[in-house]
Amino acid sequence: MTKNKRANFGSKLGVILASAGSAVGLGNIWRFPYETGNHGGAAFILIYLGCIILLGLPIMISEFLIGRHSQKSTGGAYSVLAPGTQWKWVGRMGVLAGFLILSYYSVVAGWTLEYIFEAVTNSFSGKSANDFIDSFNSFSGNPWKPLIWLVLFLLATHFIIVKGVEKGIEKSSKIMMPALFILIIILVGCSVSLPGAEKGIEFLLKPDFSKVNGEVFLGAMGQAFFSLSLGMGCLSTYASYFGKNTNLTKTAFSVGIIDTIVAIMAGFIIFPAAFSVGIQPDAGPSLIFITLPNVFQQAFSGAPVLAYIFSVMFYVLLAVAALTSTISMHEVVTAYLHEEFKLTRGRAATLVTSGCIFLGIFCSLSMGATKEYTLFGLNTFDLFDFVTAKIMLPLGGLLISIFTGWYLDKKIVKSEITNNGQLKGSIYVYLIFILKYIAPVAISFIFINELGFLK
Ligand code: PFF
Repeated sequence: MTKNKRANFGSKLGVILASAGSAVGLGNIWRFPYETGNHGGAAFILIYLGCIILLGLPIMISEFLIGRHSQKSTGGAYSVLAPGTQWKWVGRMGVLAGFLILSYYSVVAGWTLEYIFEAVTNSFSGKSANDFIDSFNSFSGNPWKPLIWLVLFLLATHFIIVKGVEKGIEKSSKIMMPALFILIIILVGCSVSLPGAEKGIEFLLKPDFSKVNGEVFLGAMGQAFFSLSLGMGCLSTYASYFGKNTNLTKTAFSVGIIDTIVAIMAGFIIFPAAFSVGIQPDAGPSLIFITLPNVFQQAFSGAPVLAYIFSVMFYVLLAVAALTSTISMHEVVTAYLHEEFKLTRGRAATLVTSGCIFLGIFCSLSMGATKEYTLFGLNTFDLFDFVTAKIMLPLGGLLISIFTGWYLDKKIVKSEITNNGQLKGSIYVYLIFILKYIAPVAISFIFINELGFLK
């Protein structure tokens, strides 16, 4: 194995921040609130938390140990750990999922750049809630503007990817993540003190189980995988850059906790504000883009300078959070092409970036110009989101748990969890039990129940 030749994350903090940087992104601040809004609020959140604990954390530990033990990106890991078997398709499906997610995720990441631009040029000032809805619709329906931002965003991701692992990924995560965290706390404070915010808080805290159905379960499971960057080998690829002393279990818990706190806090920013200004919680992908500018306008109506500073800062940090996630998806595909097809990193990255721009254009146009072209009632953007987050990632998770729980030599699992006997590893027995029985049964049940494979 090529242990010494591979790049490594430089420090313990770097490991956690880079993984958390992948996990924390638009999934927490953009997707979590709108999925929560679409699925009725508190009950969805409870099921989501259940998915994080029962499926997310064990599968994250699996991905970590697969990556660190194989010392390969996910596209090659299974050929090392299970040579000559079909398990390699788990890795390949992950690479494909990463490519597809990156294509539509970058569209939304591009929107954040437009909102930075609007914040900097002070265009939010004096607008009403309805004005924000109109301006979002006219922007996302414009055939050109979103495309320009999409391309710019992918080029920024490309630039960091070619600079390499430690310099690019680790450094950017170290500064921006804590800054985002602090700003989010301030915004929660602003949002919950808006007039009429109580209804939003109630929406988040008072579960109404009468609305829970198979779709809610599938949505919560998909969101858990999406938000934790799981099921497509992203964290497994990052773990191939971990040092041999990295505590995999602890890292997984830290990433899971940070990611969940950010998502819940995003909920506490969006819903109190949405209810306060009368925006429907099920507004879908536009939710944060029409709600947040209102928070800045209303919470700081007496101090326009603060409204200006906070809105610029927020969109900059949101773009950065998106960037640390797009870097991680890009890395999965680039590392695969680089390691398995012996392309140079630069060439591999160029292929990925161009492919994503191509697919991203279709996703972006489907929010406006080509809206009426649908498949199963979904436009291209929503179709990409559904197929990846609700099918490919949970399916990847299912296969990863079966791989670690049933196939992989338990000596490998144990030695990775305990760092070769140096750590206690008391979690081992529970981990194996969950991976062997609970996770496969739960994921299959949710799939069968909602997608109706048996109907
Ligand atoms: N977890 C990221 C987010 O919440 O924004 C999105 C993501 C990144 C999904 C990397 C999948 C992935 F492999």
